Order: sequence, then C-alpha cells, then structure tokens
Amino acid sequence: MCGIFGYVTSKDEVLGPILIEAARRLTYRGYDSVGAATISGSRIDLRKDVGKVDEVAAKYNFAEMRGSRGIAQLRWATFGEPSQVNAQPHLDSDGDLVGAHNGNVVNNAELREQFIAEGLTVRSQNDGETCVHAVERYLNRGYEFIDAIRLAYGDLEGDYAFVIGRIDDDKLYAFKKGSGMVVGIGEGFTCVSSDLPSILPLTRQVIRPQDGEIVTLWADRVEIRSVKDGKVINRQPETVTESMDAVQKGGYAHFMLKEIHEQAQAARELLHVLNGNREVDGLVAKMKKARQLYFIGCGTSYHAASAGAVYFAQLAGRAVIPILAPQFIAQYAPAVNHDDVGLFVSQSGETKDVLNALEAAEARGMACFGLANVVGSTLTKATSFCLPLCCGYEISVPATKTFTNQVITFLYLAYKMAGKDVRALDGIPDLIEKTLEMTAPQVEALATEINDWNDLYCLGYGVTYPIALEGALKLKEVTYAHCEGMLSTEFKHGPLSAVSKGFPILFVAAPNDVPLIISGINEVKVRGARTIVIAEEDARLRANADEVILLPKSDPQIVSLLGVLPLQLLSYHMAVLRGYDPDFPRNLSKTLTVD
Ligand code: G6P
Repeated sequence: MCGIFGYVTSKDEVLGPILIEAARRLTYRGYDSVGAATISGSRIDLRKDVGKVDEVAAKYNFAEMRGSRGIAQLRWATFGEPSQVNAQPHLDSDGDLVGAHNGNVVNNAELREQFIAEGLTVRSQNDGETCVHAVERYLNRGYEFIDAIRLAYGDLEGDYAFVIGRIDDDKLYAFKKGSGMVVGIGEGFTCVSSDLPSILPLTRQVIRPQDGEIVTLWADRVEIRSVKDGKVINRQPETVTESMDAVQKGGYAHFMLKEIHEQAQAARELLHVLNGNREVDGLVAKMKKARQLYFIGCGTSYHAASAGAVYFAQLAGRAVIPILAPQFIAQYAPAVNHDDVGLFVSQSGETKDVLNALEAAEARGMACFGLANVVGSTLTKATSFCLPLCCGYEISVPATKTFTNQVITFLYLAYKMAGKDVRALDGIPDLIEKTLEMTAPQVEALATEINDWNDLYCLGYGVTYPIALEGALKLKEVTYAHCEGMLSTEFKHGPLSAVSKGFPILFVAAPNDVPLIISGINEVKVRGARTIVIAEEDARLRANADEVILLPKSDPQIVSLLGVLPLQLLSYHMAVLRGYDPDFPRNLSKTLTVD
C-alpha cells in the first residue's frame, strides 16, 4: 500500500538523499510508482514515475533535489493506472501546493467532477491529487490554511493519511483519517510518515496523530490542532526504543528468510507476553460465555483463524466460525448481536476488509476483540482489547512469523478455554528451531527438483487443512505458480483429473490423521503423482509416500503448526530459483487499506 514521507528543515539544503532513503524504507508496503517533491522558496521541484525507488530516483536524479521541505511518496495503484501522471506527489492548479497521500478517498470521482466544474486543473485520476484540490478549493475561497484543511477533511471520505506544503512558507501540514501516521521530531528537523520504519533512523522522538487532527510541522516544532474546532491539542512526544535491526536483513539474503528464522524467538516473546497478560483470562471468560464465536481475517490471517477454530473444537469442544472478513459482513453480520464475540485477526491491523467487518459487527453490538501485530494500528485502537502478536516488524510481503504467532495465540487461547496447562506450549520455540534445522537442506533440494512445475497442490486435514491453505498461499505469492490448498479428502472430487506423471502434491499430516492422509496419498500416487508428506516419523507414511519431510515429535496440535515451516522454506527457495524477489512479489501489497 502507498506510503508517504514529509521532511521539514530550517534552511534550503539538498534533501534528495533523505527522501530516497525514506522511500526505500517504505518499500515493504508494496508499490508501483515513486515520487519526490522539494519546496525551495517559491519553487516546487517535482519528479515522479512508475518503477522501483532506485530506478526512478536514478533516472530523475532525486539525489540533487534541494529545498527546505520535501515529500516522498510510494504509490500502489488503486485510483488510476500506474503511470507518471497518476504517480504522487501532485500539484494544485497553479503549482503553488504539493501534496501526497496514502490510502483511499472513496468519493474521488465525485470530488474530481466538482473540481473540474469549479475550474481547477485536474491532471490525473488519482485520489492523492483530489486531496490537494480539496485544500486548494478552500484556499481559493480565502480561508486560512488550517481552516482550508478542516473543510477539506470534511469533504474527503475514506481512509487516508495526507501531507501537503506550499511555496513561500516554512511548514508542511499533515492529517489523517483511518490510516496510520507518525510524526518525528529531530535535531533541526521534523518529519511525518505513514509508519515508523522510515522515521526511526532519523529520530526516536515521535508523536502519533489521531484521526481528526491536523499536524503543522516546522523545522523546530510541531503543532496539533483539532479538525473539529481548530483548537491546539497538547501532546508530548514519546521515545521509541525498538531497535532498527528489525528493519534490516541481518545477514540473510532476504527479509522473508530472516523472518522465517526469527520465528522461534518471536514465539518465545509471544508466550512470555501471553503468560504475563492479565487480560487474556478476561477475553477467555467472554469467549466462554459467547452465544457464537467468530474468528475473522483475510489472507494469511484468515488461515490462522481457521486453524484456531479447529483447535477450539478439538481441545475445548467449542465451535467457532472462522470467516473471511468481507464474507462475514454478508453472511453473519446481519445475524449477530451483543451475545456474540468476534476476534479480528490481522498482521497490519489496517486491512480495510477487516476494518469494514469490524464496523459491521460493532454496528450490531457484537463484542469485538483483536489480534494484531502492528501496535498502534487502527485495529488495536478500534477494538476494546487487542492481543499483540509480538513479532516486531514483518517487512517481507508474504507473512511468515506473524502467521506462526497467530496460530500459537489461538492454540494458547484454546488451552485456556479447555482449562489445560499452557506450560505445555513452552516447548514450541525450540521445536520451531528444530524443525527449521531438520527440514532446511531437504526442502532446498526439493525446491530444485519440483521447480519446473507450475501447478502444485497442498493438502491437509483438520488443523493441517488451514496449514495447507497457508502453504499454498505462500507458494503462489512468491513463485507466481498456480498452487492450490485443499482439504485432502476433497481432492478426489475433481482436481484428481489434473494429475499427470510426476505432478507434485504436498501433504501435511497430523499423527491422528495418518490413515486418512494415506488414502489421499494412494489415490494420487497410483495416477502418477509425486507425493511428498510433511509429518513426524511414521512407518506407515514412509511406506506409502514418495518422500517424507520429517517434523520433530510433539503433540498433534503443535506438529500441525510446525508443518507450515517447510512450506515457507519451499516457497522461499522456489522464488529465489525462479529469480523472483520473495520479499516484494509483483502485484501484491503487505497492507491492503482498500476495499
Ligand atoms: C494482504 C497481504 C497478505 C495478508 C493480507 C491480510 O493481502 O499481502 O499477506 O495476509 O493482506 O493482511 P493482515 O495485515 O490483515 O493480516
């Protein structure tokens, strides 16, 4: 998803390298176009195009850009195709204002028509430009800048963060609705960004503006005002202590590989936090009393929710409905009420589909709780209580460590629901380490052997069904191959016709389900498939499958969870073999803040 960065200093200086660096640190969000603007006296220097940060910055020599204020933007196309004109930042009609946004202005089309009718110069289809004109229209009518913003805020519907500056001034202005935004205060400069990674190398003094607040940034101070009445709001900066190591690759070739290997440590931290979190018991008590329980998410988070639902049934005898967030709105929201409990799961805490479902649930009075990685994200603030995933930054677009910690959290909650001793889960981090050690060489070799196939299947049953779904999602995200995850027993109802000689089918088997998985293996094996099963040692599986990727022994729920690790590694190695960057797959975005 798009990202913005703004920088204010006291004198005219070369800002290009600062803007390029900030843009690089926003790339993990996913993007297709890059732009930068600097304001120097009465001149705005605007350079932008479709492409990667380094390409576009080199082509247009961003490094030489000078000014006392600068804006950088990465765009992930929603309104308007990826093109130079739609790339951000955007100018107003006369070229006196320059601004950029991230997010989604949903009444973009209507506003553009109004601006054109009012005689403003609209150059693109992009809603970032709409934000600029929304301010311009009120400046033209004689309003002061802050008042123009206050009125623009009322006109701009949707979720976004926006930064804007004008010539012959010494400030930038920023405001947000729905999307995240962080302001940084440094020595002789201030900055604003969609999120922390682009700010942390510059300063650790930050302020997190809220919806309905306007931030004015001077080189030496910031001021926050309320959109509602224009009054100044006092907010002291906080000091961020997190390490920047988390946003660097730490010796690994890619963030995805680093994050796969961070899973044991992330699990350790998670269990530590869960054990010390007094709110967990309150959440469990509410879930116990619920008329109906819903686990709601999208993509990887939905797969974790689905694994959670199986854990709840298997361990606590409690039925849960795991559901994709948009489908929740259609299928369940009309029927829920205050007796029901929803747990909204999201790495980013900003996925629009999830926030929409939350809004629908809240409108019906449902008790809503969250499970999110990004602390301070919209989901963490919008739910009455949100459990943290404790993974730190996950830079790679494909989720790995956050999935594992989501599943562990569900397993932990299921243990609590069942009144079981959660200390039994303390061994998970070591088992994760062991699994990666045990499977890595074999999986790397397998990646080479099956890399020519562009059709793959991952099959599972019970908890390993969502694990197979997640493995298939990883494979398709980073290898661009067609890979389907499926309930193993469903394969015979159609997909079986796809099997040809050597066709690779991956199975994930929990100990209790071995006989069922063996049936699945044999159905496809006799038709020529190459069968690879991920499971703990079992003579029956060895006798039936072509290959076994061995997991360490543990209980059935934990073994199922461990099954995702070799699938993450397989996806990673196949992507690298294909020459793709697993961290930033084409067309995908880590944080989808649009419908
Ligand atoms: C995007 C990402 C996926 C992610 C999904 C849900 O599609 O590319 O990796 O699973 O959003 O994201 P969330 O942040 O809500 O978990």
